[in-house]
Amino acid sequence: MCGIVGYIGKKNATPILMQGLRALEYRGYDSAGLYVAGKGVLKRAGKVDVLAAAIPKEFSGNAGIAHTRWATHGPPTEKNAHPHTDTSRTIWVVHNGIVENYAELREAMIQRGTTFESDTDTEVLAKLIGEEYGMGVVLEDAVTRALKKINGTYALAVMSEREPDKIVAARLGSPLLIGIANDAYFLASDATPILPHTRRVIYLDDGELSILSPNACMVRREFETLSKKIEVLEWDAETAKKQGHEHFMLKEIMEIPEVIKNTLRGRLDFNEGTSVLSGLQNVASRLANIQRIIITGCGSAYYAGLAGKNLIEEFSGVPVEVEIASELRYRRFTGDSKHSILLAVSQSGETADTLEAIRIAKRHGMLTLGIVNVVGSSIARETDAGVYNHAGPEISVASTKGFISQIIVLALIALMLGRQRSLQKAKGRGLARFLSELPEKVSEILGRKDMVAEVAKRYASMQNALCIGRKFQYPVAFEGALKLKEVAYLHAEGYGAGEMKHGPLALIESSVPTIALLPMDSVYEKTRSNVEEIRARGGKVIAVTTEGNEAAARLADDVLFVPTTHEAFLPVLTVIPLQLFTYYIAKERGLPIDKPRNLAKSVTVE
Ligand code: AGP
Repeated sequence: MCGIVGYIGKKNATPILMQGLRALEYRGYDSAGLYVAGKGVLKRAGKVDVLAAAIPKEFSGNAGIAHTRWATHGPPTEKNAHPHTDTSRTIWVVHNGIVENYAELREAMIQRGTTFESDTDTEVLAKLIGEEYGMGVVLEDAVTRALKKINGTYALAVMSEREPDKIVAARLGSPLLIGIANDAYFLASDATPILPHTRRVIYLDDGELSILSPNACMVRREFETLSKKIEVLEWDAETAKKQGHEHFMLKEIMEIPEVIKNTLRGRLDFNEGTSVLSGLQNVASRLANIQRIIITGCGSAYYAGLAGKNLIEEFSGVPVEVEIASELRYRRFTGDSKHSILLAVSQSGETADTLEAIRIAKRHGMLTLGIVNVVGSSIARETDAGVYNHAGPEISVASTKGFISQIIVLALIALMLGRQRSLQKAKGRGLARFLSELPEKVSEILGRKDMVAEVAKRYASMQNALCIGRKFQYPVAFEGALKLKEVAYLHAEGYGAGEMKHGPLALIESSVPTIALLPMDSVYEKTRSNVEEIRARGGKVIAVTTEGNEAAARLADDVLFVPTTHEAFLPVLTVIPLQLFTYYIAKERGLPIDKPRNLAKSVTVE
């Protein structure tokens, strides 16, 4: 989604801002622009490269703000790109989020004689700030006053031609952090543009406003100055690069063994057969008494939640409901809030619907927990407690290592809840061992990635596909279909294998292959029958099964093998051939793998 970068210091701001915009490209955008003090504004529809090509040599200054826009109000055109300005063209604003009452505000301004250049809600905000600024106050006070008049969410950065040595930034509902270097300050929607310059950051909280100058940074709420903690980012700039891979998606899949190790590191107690999750220590006694868990998330995070339900119910017996966050937030909350928890799953920690579901659950008195990858993100900070994935930056829009690390954290939580209840120590020890063996098993699958590429070549021209799975493999079927849709632009449906007879079997013909998740687990025979029914109707089948299942070669047209493990942890293994299969199909088709059309990495609007 939209991204903000800002710089104020001694160097030339232009290359720093452009490098920052490039670092934010992964979030998804359709136009870009920048304002540099003393030079003015430049905007372009399309890619950052298009903007870069339009920048004249002399376009330099020591401070500036820049933006990548993901269209919400009005098409992705140059006039709608940020920065936007006020009537006197004195101030410039970049903004993420949505001004919900922009239509009324705009109408009222038009009545007052104001004219607008764009269709955006941001221009309304710029003109509001301009009106306040016109009263003779300093920029930060004009921003504070204007923000009182809007409803909605924002992360914004504002500069004025009258005060060129100042950037004013504010946040409500959209992330914004300040980078602190020796001789400069940076501003960004996430850490990636800041990492090449500094790892010392301040996270702005909702309702806070910051005033940056070349040698000072002040944060205030309303008119009261705050003393904010400086945090040190764990990630470095190198981690966020492709490291020799053609695409981030493949790089991130290849990192999965290391990611699982990092997610598990220091969290398995082999002796007690349980997990030790320091982020949940403060709420451990409450967790021992909970009677219901609601897991929420969007997209892959939701499917990880479905996998988590199976794990938690299997090991602990605690009933789990899983709800898409965009539905949960509009549903009536029922049941005993005191003994229920909301467990929110989000790689970015910024997904708007998930964040709102958390806020609603809190209002209902529920304990809220987060499973989040991005440290310091909104969800990480707004939940009562939580567990970090430690998966490192996930840049590709498609979640791969992030999804797997979510399942691993859910497995750790399931183990802990189980051991707090009736799961026996010996069983817990066995499960801990199975978890610790997963990285090696994933490496085996990745070692055979060329075979997956071969199979993918044979199916690269397919238009439709079905993914089926049962019990622990049921969520994997949905996740596999989602990957094929978003990365390979292929119409794929996930289905519970047992549902085939209730409708989807009618779709089966030779041009509609089925990817069957068919490991040798407790429901193998049932799923095998479903596969035979598909074959009997002329359908092609790609089976993902466990090593040693020689019969699969006779049953399916193509077979992708994974090592064996406890059946509850098999989703961690069986989803990887699907991720690779999708990657190679998209590559064959020449698609923009890391940035699929119309999608954004971090979905910060509803
Ligand atoms: C996954 O491949 C998707 N890009 C998407 O469904 C994603 O999982 C979803 O938007 C949730 O994101 P989050 O984990 O950052 O909350």
